[in-house]
Amino acid sequence: MVPCEPGNLRRRMPLPGRPGWSWLLGTRLRRWRMRRTLRAAVEHVPSGASVLDAGSGPGYDAEELARLLPAAKVRRWVLLDPQRLMLLQAGRIVIRRQPDADRWAAVVGDAAAIPARDSSFDLVLSLGVLCCMSEMAVAKAITETVRVLRPGGWLVFGVPPWRRAQDLESFERLGLVVVARPRRGGAILQKRA
Ligand SMILES: C[S@@+](CC[C@H](N)C(=O)[O-])C[C@H]1O[C@@H](n2cnc3c(N)ncnc32)[C@H](O)[C@@H]1O
Repeated sequence: MVPCEPGNLRRRMPLPGRPGWSWLLGTRLRRWRMRRTLRAAVEHVPSGASVLDAGSGPGYDAEELARLLPAAKVRRWVLLDPQRLMLLQAGRIVIRRQPDADRWAAVVGDAAAIPARDSSFDLVLSLGVLCCMSEMAVAKAITETVRVLRPGGWLVFGVPPWRRAQDLESFERLGLVVVARPRRGGAILQKRA
């Protein structure tokens, strides 16, 4: 367990980022929107993949991706979030209804200091997270995301449109290439091999 630096959590977290309001993340409309982005990633998930949902909240995005994939295509799902209450919800709601729940792990931690080795994930989800982090933590989180992705690995990224351009530029500077923009605010990127 890696505790989150206090400065890496926004003091005033936007509502869906708070455990009491996380139901907003699981509404049909939001899931439908997320599926539009996630569908563009499906073809890039290799068999036996390791997937990290960085800033997972209750894990609805990972759950939607799992629904779009053939059974057991993913070897390991890691849900990472600094708010323990979010991960408790993930355990109670999302993980328990997975047929391969033993492949899922909920880890309390910080996207700005990811507790994982370099190149350890084939795919990382970062959806609606950088916009919930303090500005000083965003740069670290971007560097960390790139570090834990294997060369040739994929990032499914989403932020509100007002901050997309600056974040995409930062990822590109670190060697990621934008390969698709399935919706406003969303993008699929690949790390150069
Ligand atoms: C708006 S929610 C999005 C949750 C999920 N990605 C989704 O789309 O349903 C933002 C999440 O980012 C998490 N978060 C905030 N700061 C973080 C940090 N430094 N590292 C990792 N996650 C963080 C919050 O705890 C919250 O669960």
